[in-house]
Amino acid sequence: MRIVFIGPPGAGKGTQSERLVALLGIPHLSTGNMLREARDRQTAVGRAAEEYMQAGKLVPDEIVLELVSQRLTKPDCAAGALFDGFPRNVAQAEALDALLDAAGTPLEVVLELKVDDEVVKRRLNGRGRSDDESNVIAERLRTYWNQTQPLLDYYRRHSLLQTIDGQGTVDEVFARIQSAIRRQGPPGSDD
Ligand code: AP5
Repeated sequence: MRIVFIGPPGAGKGTQSERLVALLGIPHLSTGNMLREARDRQTAVGRAAEEYMQAGKLVPDEIVLELVSQRLTKPDCAAGALFDGFPRNVAQAEALDALLDAAGTPLEVVLELKVDDEVVKRRLNGRGRSDDESNVIAERLRTYWNQTQPLLDYYRRHSLLQTIDGQGTVDEVFARIQSAIRRQGPPGSDD
């Protein structure tokens, strides 16, 4: 299966993705993890991305698209992929559609994890990643509402969107995600 996870910072995309990839046996493609890894290794991509990440802004599309398109050529992606935090704007979504259409493997479901801003702030305040300072969290939320929210309409128009209440325990949210995938997924995905 090919699945996209959309949600504000701290919505639980990473937490839920880990469970979902274990369940479905598909790779976890988190652009945030890829960019942090590149930054930590101080590659050219990592150095170019760093200032955007620290400011809570989107890294330029061409950098992210290069990372994703390279990753999709790896053999494990033949089984499918869970895209976590990608795409994050309509241009990235169109580019992903073009890549997947060319391979004849379109997206099957887009999961929106919905969580109130106040809950997100509480969750991230306790975590301590370098972009979890309160001013950066505020900017990441602004970026989400201004640039990523419009994607929801894009995927609604493509009849791919499933909205999930991301509040409650990790187990409760995971149960809702599994139901949403059963509703949207191809025959056999509810086995
Ligand atoms: P990215 O790494 O994608 O970060 P994010 O979207 O801000 O999301 P987070 O990782 O903070 O949160 P999450 O939703 O994964 O929640 P998590 O499970 O960790 O992106 C970072 C940066 O990289 C961006 O700002 C941007 O600069 C750049 N970037 C990445 N992708 C890009 C792209 N496509 N284009 C351009 N730039 C890009 O949970 C958060 C916390 O809450 C954890 O402590 C967790 O334990 C806890 N928690 C989770 N679920 C629950 C629950 N149900 N109850 C209580 N606590 C919970």
